[in-house]
Amino acid sequence: MILSIDQGTTGTTCLVLDREGRVQGRAYSEFTQHFPRPGWVEHDAREIWTVTKRVAHVAAAHSGAGLEGITGIGITNQRETIVVWDRETGEPIHNALVWQDGRTAEACRALRDAGHQDAVRARTGLVIDPYFSGTKLSWLLDHVPGARRRAEAGELAAGTIDSWLVWNLTGGRLHLTDPTNASRTLLYGLESGAWDAEMLSLFGVPAAVLPEIRASSEVYGTTDGDAFGIELPVAGIAGDQQSALYGHGCCTAGEGKNTYGTGAFLLVHTGDRPVPSRHGLLTTAACGPRGERAFALEGSIFIAGAAVQWLRDGLGIVDDAAQTGELAASLASNDGVFFVPAFTGLGAPHWEPEARGTLLGLTRGTTRAHLVRAALEAMAFSTRDVVQAMEADAGVTLPALRVDGGAAANDWMMQFQADVLGIPVRRPAMVEMTARGAAGLAGLATGFWPSPEAFQEARPAESEFVPAADEGGRAALLAGWRRALAAARAWAG
Ligand code: G3P
Repeated sequence: MILSIDQGTTGTTCLVLDREGRVQGRAYSEFTQHFPRPGWVEHDAREIWTVTKRVAHVAAAHSGAGLEGITGIGITNQRETIVVWDRETGEPIHNALVWQDGRTAEACRALRDAGHQDAVRARTGLVIDPYFSGTKLSWLLDHVPGARRRAEAGELAAGTIDSWLVWNLTGGRLHLTDPTNASRTLLYGLESGAWDAEMLSLFGVPAAVLPEIRASSEVYGTTDGDAFGIELPVAGIAGDQQSALYGHGCCTAGEGKNTYGTGAFLLVHTGDRPVPSRHGLLTTAACGPRGERAFALEGSIFIAGAAVQWLRDGLGIVDDAAQTGELAASLASNDGVFFVPAFTGLGAPHWEPEARGTLLGLTRGTTRAHLVRAALEAMAFSTRDVVQAMEADAGVTLPALRVDGGAAANDWMMQFQADVLGIPVRRPAMVEMTARGAAGLAGLATGFWPSPEAFQEARPAESEFVPAADEGGRAALLAGWRRALAAARAWAG
């Protein structure tokens, strides 16, 4: 069997998959989120490693076969989150700065004002936004005493969470990443497929600190017996959204999916050529049929399931995300209540890092059901904004939307999504496409699946949500959403 490690923003999921793609073992654990100041988000990288190691062992035990029954390990991860550690001791020099962390908004604004946006987009496919790793890495090197000097001297290693996990799994022997993760740093040349010297100099990052870039599907080495308890091949790496794209079987131009996790990320494969965006999307590395480097257009929505998590943990108005569908359905309409959950700024296609969460249309009759419904509706509206940008960029009309991720399990939300888009929404029976993708990449590299076709044949069945034909209702809802978005943007000043 293949062990897939999905190290996400709020927790780590590990799945053990058999050759038919069935889940034989599963485990999940959340870990601590640190919010040291408004708009800052950090993770303790040590805790990520400890939790991930434990969850991997539990999932393998749950499969009945234990780690002895594993042929290879695939890794997929929250992207852009950056860790810097000491090459000698393996100790992080600071908490990891999470992709949602906005502390470099000022630095990004200065770079944009200085006119660097076009060159950055042309080279990296990205926009200058605190979301990506580049300015975060530079912040760490500037704010941890001695870090920049030590980085230049080759004493420190930096990497996204895939690099951090591989380093720890292999007992500090391997420092590497793959193109899908590298393409989220602002430091990777999309055309060249290598770290870009001009970008390194613009963002102030010494090359000596960066990992080697390897393919998404290959045997990189083996886990360390002391560090992990057993020696197993580590054989696949992809950023979580590209992994989900691969897990859905979207490996050629025109195929796409939306994953509703902490955020929501809609990717459409563009084949072996990067396609520049003119409508606020990103161009990013993805995987071809064998895990070889390919490209996608991406719309990144920063807050999706995290809004429901906030209703649960921040406001305490729901006990469990599973309640939200029923609460939303208890209302005949949203009664004019809209919620733009721009807690960490707005991502695609708006790119407004200073925007903040905005609730509108409250009356004395507003109940927790309205807030819940507005949070679910926001995921669907944001997705529609991205679909429109995607269609404008790619010059195509999406015939249907493939979905996955935790919030895709919500039937009410999926029906609302189909209604708002006016196209069918297709959901696989297993919503963990992210973990499935990394399993496929590792399974191909180890020969567990002899061919991409053998892996893709083992895909789960899909159910379909068909849109209700109510053009008038849809138009009124979208007009309300646009006004709410305008309010959230106006707040940013
Ligand atoms: O780009 C951020 C993304 O990779 C995070 O994914 O699933 O943790 O919301 P997720």
